[in-house]
Amino acid sequence: MRIAVTGSSGKLGRATCLRLREAGHAVLGLDRAGQPGFDFSMIDFTDYGQTLDGLLGITARHDGLDAIVHLAAIPVNGPVPDATVFHNNMITTFNVMHAALRAGIDNIVYASSITAMGFPFAEPPAYLPLDEDSGGRSNNTYGMVKVMEEAMAGQLVRRRPSLSITALRFTNVTQQGEYQAFADRAGDPAYRRDLMWSYVDARDGAQLIDLALQHAEPGFEVYNVAASDTGLTVPSVDLARQAFPDVLLRKELGEHETLMSIDKAVERLGYRPQHLWRDELAR
Ligand SMILES: NC(=O)c1ccc[n+]([C@@H]2O[C@H](COP(=O)([O-])OP(=O)(O)OC[C@H]3O[C@@H](n4cnc5c(N)ncnc54)[C@H](O)[C@@H]3O)[C@@H](O)[C@H]2O)c1
Repeated sequence: MRIAVTGSSGKLGRATCLRLREAGHAVLGLDRAGQPGFDFSMIDFTDYGQTLDGLLGITARHDGLDAIVHLAAIPVNGPVPDATVFHNNMITTFNVMHAALRAGIDNIVYASSITAMGFPFAEPPAYLPLDEDSGGRSNNTYGMVKVMEEAMAGQLVRRRPSLSITALRFTNVTQQGEYQAFADRAGDPAYRRDLMWSYVDARDGAQLIDLALQHAEPGFEVYNVAASDTGLTVPSVDLARQAFPDVLLRKELGEHETLMSIDKAVERLGYRPQHLWRDELAR
């Protein structure tokens, strides 16, 4: 496939470009930061003219695309004012999705977030593990945009029956070099409690993006993206019982099984996380 990756200079974008190129796709990175080269062009996606032109074609780069992986966003609240997060992320996603529609691109995979499912989980969830039906609950501006983007994607596929949009609800994206910090506080239930102790290595995130592109079907679909384990050595059932004593546990949990359910991606897409922090530190 000819694939454009927005946000290609970022943490997830770099791992995604690598993975998709290794799989044999023609991959063009697009970002407002980075060094232009044969496989990368600079675009600010808040500008619709740049976005539409960039998806229709770029001389010496591409003359049409089969798919878009949309990762460009400010990935957190705080570094800039909330209104800036809203304006950048919401307009960027509208521009990319709308331009894709205009350009006739039918396969969009994009990054949503667990912030659309109630992060930082101060209120108890309805049940655990949290699955894809737990969406539509945000507690901050960044998360509100993720909820609104999912609503927008659901409407866009109604307008073009051939269009496939896949939202991947990433939890905290991690990479090599970050796992010693996990080990240092592995017995502390307060550590990364707001993430429900979940994480996902950027390479596994890229694996799921690759799988979602391959399995795209017309319509809108949502998948959680997490590692298969938590970041702690405390058994998952104890974490759940202590933090959320009244919450229904809907399955018997493995010793360190994630509370951010990945069953849907495992069953439907064949997702198999390969980069778990315990193994990475042992390597
Ligand atoms: N990092 C996480 O823990 C995490 C968790 C859940 C979801 N996500 C989502 O995953 C995606 C990628 O996150 P990341 O961790 O790689 O972030 P990152 O900050 O490392 O990368 C994001 C990239 O997007 C680019 N970008 C932002 N706005 C842009 C615009 N208007 N035009 C062009 N480029 C723009 C930035 O320059 C940057 O290179 C985002 O949508 C983020 O919301 C990330």
